[in-house]
Amino acid sequence: MSHLQQIEQLRNQALAELDSLNGADAVEAWRIKYLGSKGLVKQAMALLKDIPPAEKPMYGKTANQIKGELTKAFQACKDAKVSSQQQPVTQSVDVTLPGTSAKIGHRHLLTQTVDEICDIFARMGFSIAYGPEVEDERHNFDALNIPPAHPARDPLDNFYIDEKIMLRSQTSTVQIRTMEATEPPVRIISPGRVYRPDTVDATHSFMFHQVEGLYVDEGVTMADLKTCVDQFCKAYFGDDIKTRFRPSFFPFTEPSAEIDVEFSQDDGSTKWIELGGCGMVDPNVLESVGYDSEKYTGYAFGLGIDRGVMRKHGIPDIRLLFESDVRFLRQF
Ligand code: DAH
Repeated sequence: MSHLQQIEQLRNQALAELDSLNGADAVEAWRIKYLGSKGLVKQAMALLKDIPPAEKPMYGKTANQIKGELTKAFQACKDAKVSSQQQPVTQSVDVTLPGTSAKIGHRHLLTQTVDEICDIFARMGFSIAYGPEVEDERHNFDALNIPPAHPARDPLDNFYIDEKIMLRSQTSTVQIRTMEATEPPVRIISPGRVYRPDTVDATHSFMFHQVEGLYVDEGVTMADLKTCVDQFCKAYFGDDIKTRFRPSFFPFTEPSAEIDVEFSQDDGSTKWIELGGCGMVDPNVLESVGYDSEKYTGYAFGLGIDRGVMRKHGIPDIRLLFESDVRFLRQF
């Protein structure tokens, strides 16, 4: 038998043996016997040096091919026989077991409320605008007709990031951003977070939520403002809610008013709760964004969302809204 025939016989024998093996140990023993560092394939390759030069290239090539072939066959056998035997029992599926019910959460009460508020105003023709929570002084103060010496700009009453940049203290900033970007008429609401360094207690937080409203067009009047706010309060709190406008002052509106809503107390009496501020947009504000204040008038309002939520749902402490305690949140 020639050297070549011998090595081919070795291959056939190895493959036949591999085919009949059972179990991981046997497969490993086969590997050592044929492919191990002192295995039969290695030995056959070592013969190369004794082979006549004319046969060497053919023998070497065939030996290499066989080594590759056996290595592949070994790997395939190991994957098929050994791994399938070692499958852990836990991976099998009992399709007769009843399923585990999935627990699906729900939106936070404040998120639900913002969506509800947006829906109500959308029905009145308002679109929704958003603005950044990190603001500059122009949008938070200057363009809103709040002069540099105004007490509302006191560093102790605001979260300044540097001399000119701050966390916005009101959503009125979005009035300016919207008017800068759009020609009149504009009719938007803007819900979002605002920040003030208030000491935290049952009714105060360093962060709370407002919804801003702005409507600028030709011929907009205070009657439009009162109707809009009153309709909103009825849609959100219920048809029998009473609203009241109290004269007030804001630098960016003239005239200005405070919006109060009447709630009944546990003892049967009623109490007016302040919901926010509003007024006719001050001509200075319109001019600061390049609107013609002779041609256009507008109204604006800013309502406290958290306060409304607390009243509507009988929540006694604002901190409950921000603590993410699921025992509280699941109730809504
Ligand atoms: N920005 C005011 C605040 O945070 C609320 C407010 C008052 C907003 C009057 C308005 C407005 O748009 O017209 O206290």
